[in-house]
Amino acid sequence: MKITVVGTGYVGLVTGTCFAEIGHEVLCVDIDERKINMLRKLQMPIYEPGLEDLVKKNVAAKRLNFSTSVKEGTEFAEVIFIAVGTPPGARGEANLSYVEQVGRKVAEYMTSYRLLVEKSTVPANTGGELKRAVTKYLRADIDFDVASNPEFLREGSAIEDAFSPDRIVVGVESERASKLLREIYDPVIKKSGCAFLEMSVTSAELTKHASNSFLAMKISYINAVSRICELAGADVEEVARGMGLDKRIGPRFLNAGIGFGGSCFPKDVDAFVHLADRLGYNFELLKEVQHINKTQRELLMKKIQHELWVVQDKTVAIFGLAFKPETDDIREAPSLYVVSQLLESKAKLKLWDPVAESNFKEQYPQLEYHPDLLDCAKGADLLLILTEWPQVKALDLIKLRDVMACPVIIDGRNVFDPEKMRKLGFTYHSIGRK
Ligand SMILES: NC(=O)c1ccc[n+]([C@@H]2O[C@H](COP(=O)([O-])OP(=O)(O)OC[C@H]3O[C@@H](n4cnc5c(N)ncnc54)[C@H](O)[C@@H]3O)[C@@H](O)[C@H]2O)c1
Repeated sequence: MKITVVGTGYVGLVTGTCFAEIGHEVLCVDIDERKINMLRKLQMPIYEPGLEDLVKKNVAAKRLNFSTSVKEGTEFAEVIFIAVGTPPGARGEANLSYVEQVGRKVAEYMTSYRLLVEKSTVPANTGGELKRAVTKYLRADIDFDVASNPEFLREGSAIEDAFSPDRIVVGVESERASKLLREIYDPVIKKSGCAFLEMSVTSAELTKHASNSFLAMKISYINAVSRICELAGADVEEVARGMGLDKRIGPRFLNAGIGFGGSCFPKDVDAFVHLADRLGYNFELLKEVQHINKTQRELLMKKIQHELWVVQDKTVAIFGLAFKPETDDIREAPSLYVVSQLLESKAKLKLWDPVAESNFKEQYPQLEYHPDLLDCAKGADLLLILTEWPQVKALDLIKLRDVMACPVIIDGRNVFDPEKMRKLGFTYHSIGRK
């Protein structure tokens, strides 16, 4: 089937490429000319494991193409996925201007039936608004549908998630829309055996916000537990293991650390709280999730302050800038907060990240970046671990200890065993452990 994907970012590019890989003919559209030009030269605008090979393969097979024209996209396919950004607005609400822009443009160029699919994460009832906008800008009486198909992929394992999802959720209002989406996903359903859930558009939209907010809640929960562990003298890793083996709880998203970041959880929780407020429900549970997440970073800063006493002129090495391993995404990454605080306190910073460096450099071009972990740690009074990259876990700890001015580590991701670190001569602080 022919498919257009508008918005060629972390979600749109992966979705479009994976649709091509399962046999569809895909046109990925983006208004960012730089991105589209890079892709036409087979250069990746983002880091995602396995993506480059898949893009190259499907471009060569002529199943994947790129364009900057929504007009071309609208003419190309009957089904148009909208995968543009929905960043947070000033009061935490989702900014839907990019989604609306696409709706208006598609309406302008449509000459026959089109199915517009919300792939972007949007608040409940957006489908109705999108339908109203498209109807307003249509130039003739043309039939169309709006559907919701929220995306659950995780950056870092997005390709695997696209081919083996836990479930595919679609919100549809017509038999025609349902059949089209079922046909698109048929190869994935057959191969992975995943559930294909059909529901109303509003329920599908809400499923996404409810899912992400639930996962964020799990993280804030274990972070709150980690604070009690520190006060009581327990070990949060042991507690999380004890909890996670209960099948009703499950082990995932029970890693205590410096809180959740990234382009989804913070903004999706904000948007869900905002939606609830607007609808007349005070979602206090999620407000506490936000509060715990914010203060978790502040607690890390207190630990740094306590350890260094005077932060000014101290050399602080930072391992990890991405909000999680295997991605170059730094949107809402804890590193942004920590770096800004340390610069305010006039610390000297040395930074390391294997893929997020160039994104970070765009905001902090003046800082010192090191491609080698030991070079980064050399002469440091303190080392901060902000992303649990495998390279950090595999580091020669004796060499690390010997290159630092003071072997002091504050580990925001609980990468190492505290007992082992102490035996090696480190002063080692982590989250929720003695
Ligand atoms: N990143 C994730 O892990 C993830 C996972 C699930 C869902 N989502 C959701 O998917 C959506 C996209 O997220 P993302 O991370 O891919 O964002 P992104 O910023 O990486 O990509 C969005 C793209 O849309 C393009 N765009 C904006 N307006 C446009 C327009 N009018 N026409 C054509 N292109 C336009 C931008 O240039 C950009 O390239 C968001 O709603 C997000 O919440 C993201």
